[in-house]
Amino acid sequence: WVLLVTARTPTNIAVIKYWGKRDEKLILPVNDSISVTLDPDHLCTTTTVAVSPTFDHDRMWLNGKEISLSGGRFQSCLRELRSRAGDVEDKEKGIKISKEDWGKLHIHIASYNNFPTAAGLASSAAGLACFVFSLAKLMNVNEDQSKLSAIARQGSGSACRSLYGGFVKWIMGKEENGSDSVAVQLADEKHWDELVIIVAVVSSRQKETSSTSGMRETVETSLLLQHRAKEVVPKRILKMEEAIRNRDFASFAQLTCADSNQFHAVCLDTSPPIFYMNDTSHRQKITYFRIISLVEKWNRAEGTPQVAYTFDAGPNAVMIAHNRKVAGLLLQRLLYHFPPNTDADLSSYIVGDKSI
Ligand code: DP6
Repeated sequence: WVLLVTARTPTNIAVIKYWGKRDEKLILPVNDSISVTLDPDHLCTTTTVAVSPTFDHDRMWLNGKEISLSGGRFQSCLRELRSRAGDVEDKEKGIKISKEDWGKLHIHIASYNNFPTAAGLASSAAGLACFVFSLAKLMNVNEDQSKLSAIARQGSGSACRSLYGGFVKWIMGKEENGSDSVAVQLADEKHWDELVIIVAVVSSRQKETSSTSGMRETVETSLLLQHRAKEVVPKRILKMEEAIRNRDFASFAQLTCADSNQFHAVCLDTSPPIFYMNDTSHRQKITYFRIISLVEKWNRAEGTPQVAYTFDAGPNAVMIAHNRKVAGLLLQRLLYHFPPNTDADLSSYIVGDKSI
């Protein structure tokens, strides 16, 4: 027999960024972060997990290609899940698995991203969240969503936020064992549904510093990070929560842009400096600096912000429009000034609502 579970998990975009760990093994951050979960139709991972007595070892495939599960992060998640697995019974198929059996049974995992993994979009967030969520269902792990987020966190920090839709906060926590470093939902996907997210996707992955090693170097060398984590982010988190609660787009956009810019300033304050926005082709670099300038000028001309931008540790630009009308105008301007091409720079724009 084979028992299967399939789940789908969207990626999330941080509007107050996570950058820097206080514990690398447990993946505990130096500050809280807030994100918005995207619509699963656009950027998501779909994972099917299977268990069968005929499987002789754990195996995983990503987009059809087998990958190794031996990495510490996968193993931490698997260990946590197996230790919390419950009894499973499928009367129709005559399958009975007791919780003790999970230590002996092997699993197969097949995962697909509906966006190019090579494009450097936040695939680890959706991927690890889906890995944990689908296995927890298969193994009948009887834990609430926040406990599952703490398990996903050990796979990739940003993954813990993808277990919820809408607006999500990852609370950094204080405990050394990470038990209070969990994600919570601030508002569901219906709360502020006029927002529209536009992602400018690049078609080829450029050379870049991985988040994990970049963060390590920042923690070791940047004084600005200490200031950001202790002084800036705690206040920004409170303001961002208030902006989300009141659907106050002006504050939301101002905080989102400022936090993205400070994140890149912290990267530049790292020794040796990390240039995420420069670590792209010449055309892209120009495009992204011009996107910032276009949005800033537009917002100033309107007298109140209409669009927010945010850039992560990769080459993609994310813009959040106040509503559908603004999103339509923004897309028109983007297509006019920065038309997508096929030779490796800007490959397409993904337009989606935020939701789950
Ligand atoms: C810039 O979650 O990819 O996207 O925990 O080492 O796996 P690890 O890092 P990861 O870092 C994401 C960093 C970011 C900001 C954010 O998503 O908050």
